[in-house]
Amino acid sequence: ISLKPYNTFGIDVKAAFFAEIFSEADLKTLFESDLTKTQSILIIGGGSNVLFTKNYDGLVIKMSIMGIESFVDSDIVKVRAGAGVVWNDFVNYCVEHNLAGVENLSLIPGTVGASPVQNIGAYGVELATIFESCTAFEIKTGEIKTFAYADCHFGYRESIFKGELKGKYIITSVTFNLKTESKINTSYGVIEAELQKRGIENPGIADVSAAVSHIRVSKLPDPSTIGNAGSFFKNPVIEKYEFADIVAKYPDLVHYPTTDDKIKLAAGWLIEQCGWKGKIHGQTGTWKNQALVLVNHGNASGKEIYNFSEQIIDSVKSTFGVTLEREVNIL
Ligand code: EPU
Repeated sequence: ISLKPYNTFGIDVKAAFFAEIFSEADLKTLFESDLTKTQSILIIGGGSNVLFTKNYDGLVIKMSIMGIESFVDSDIVKVRAGAGVVWNDFVNYCVEHNLAGVENLSLIPGTVGASPVQNIGAYGVELATIFESCTAFEIKTGEIKTFAYADCHFGYRESIFKGELKGKYIITSVTFNLKTESKINTSYGVIEAELQKRGIENPGIADVSAAVSHIRVSKLPDPSTIGNAGSFFKNPVIEKYEFADIVAKYPDLVHYPTTDDKIKLAAGWLIEQCGWKGKIHGQTGTWKNQALVLVNHGNASGKEIYNFSEQIIDSVKSTFGVTLEREVNIL
């Protein structure tokens, strides 16, 4: 089976085996089969965070457990969504029901089940801020376990599911804590500017969601027309003394303090300064409005995109002495 429809980069590689899962019971049945004992396994949601550089010689499991339900718990509403729910459908559900907390994360590609794995974040909000718990299928035992917030070890684009427990669990649902009283977060300057431009004085959740969606659409390429996986690299976090050296040479260096007394740099800025913004390189390149996003201009192979990303890493390293790490999983 071709994986082209199952990855937002639109890379045309094949999987030896493929299964689509609609329930926890489906997972149990699948993992009783010999196939799961003899093949390597890859779990995918929206396929928006992978770059396939070759055929997948194993079993790809596409998570399609659907459903959204909510429970009122005093001034908090707990919303539980199936792993296969498209992330933005979940956001829209919350906006329509006037549930606050997730509107800044509008239009992030991918699925609910993938969202805790890399602790998705945008515009001043991270998944961790609204995460209550998740359920996950343990591959070894076939049991469903619940992970509370503290179990997940969330960090910037990090969680236990990417670290210690990688390959051991499959997330089947996520429960979020949302607020009925809308306390919106427009600390991120671009949101405020967009709301002002729209003449909105007392913005509600729907206004923030619309503003964020507009900003994303204007900055980021739409994967349905131009293959991409959002930010290709993470924003590098460096020590203060390293920062001091770089900023002495590059006073315009875009940076933010982190909660653990380090400095986060804007990878997009570093890449742009090295002259890569909007560069077209064969069938690949960086996006014209956001250098942190690598794109497939048509028929790029995963290898071609990967090699291009190596050139960017080398170039940023030799200019700034900073090593970019990929956010996208390379397979
Ligand atoms: N910048 C440039 N040139 C560029 C891109 C960015 O100079 O080509 C500078 C600008 O100064 C800008 C700053 O970098 O002010 C930050 O850019 P932006 O607001 O676009 O955010 P980002 O740090 O590049 C992160 C997330 C995005 C998220 C945005 C908005 C990471 C790796 N990426 O990008 O997440 O949407 O913030 O909050 O943390 C994703 O992970 O796939 C993703 C899209």
